[in-house]
Amino acid sequence: MIQVISGTNRAGSNTLKVAKIIADMYRARGAEVGLLDLQDLPADLFSPASYGAKPAAFAPFQDAVLGADGLHVVFPEYNGSFPGVLKYFIDMLKFPESFEHRCVAYTGVSAGLWGNIRGVEQLQLVFNYRNAYNLPERTWLNQIQGKLNPEGTAITDAFQAGLLAAQVDAFISFVGRNKGIAPSAIKK
Ligand SMILES: Cc1cc2nc3c(=O)[nH]c(=O)nc-3n(C[C@H](O)[C@H](O)[C@H](O)COP(=O)(O)O)c2cc1C
Repeated sequence: MIQVISGTNRAGSNTLKVAKIIADMYRARGAEVGLLDLQDLPADLFSPASYGAKPAAFAPFQDAVLGADGLHVVFPEYNGSFPGVLKYFIDMLKFPESFEHRCVAYTGVSAGLWGNIRGVEQLQLVFNYRNAYNLPERTWLNQIQGKLNPEGTAITDAFQAGLLAAQVDAFISFVGRNKGIAPSAIKK
C-alpha cells in the first residue's frame, strides 16, 4: 500500500491537486493507494496537549502511515522550505516505527522557479535521521500555476508529466524490493 501525502493544509492548494494526480497514476498501474490530506488533520491535534495523548481523530492518519509500504510525499515550497504543518505532522507520528525502514518518495511543488528543490533536500534530512529509505528519483514541479489544466486534474507539461510517471514506476518497484524489511517486522 502506498500513501500519497499532500503536505500542506492550505485551502485551494495546488499541491493537493498534484497529489491527487499522482494517486491516480498509482491506481492506473494497479497499485493499492491512499491519499492523506493534511487539511483533514483534526483541529485539536494543534493543542499543546497533543505532544502527549493524541486526539482519537488522528488515529486514521497514524494507522495509514504504519500500514504503508511506501509514502509519496508531495509538498509545496513555503519560504524556501517545506511547510511547517508537514513537520508538525511528522512530529505527531509515533517514533520510531512510523518511518524506520519505510520507503519515501518526494515531489516538490512551487510557484517559483526552483520547484521546491530546497524543501525536498531539507525534508530528506529529516527522513534520513528517521532511517527511512529514500527513493533516488525525486521530482520538482516548478511554476505549477502554469502546468495544471483548468480543472486541476492533469499536468499539461509533457516533460514534467513524463518525469512524474517515471518516478511513480520507480517507486512501485522500489517499494516492492524493500517491502520485506519494512516496518511491520520491527513494530514496537
Ligand atoms: C506561506 C507560503 C510561502 C510560500 N513561499 C514560497 C517560496 O518560498 N517559493 C516559491 O516558489 N513559492 C512559494 N509559495 C507559493 C507556493 O509555492 C504556491 O502556492 C504553489 O501553488 C504551491 O503551494 P500550494 O500547494 O499551497 O498551492 C509560498 C506560498 C505560501 C502560502
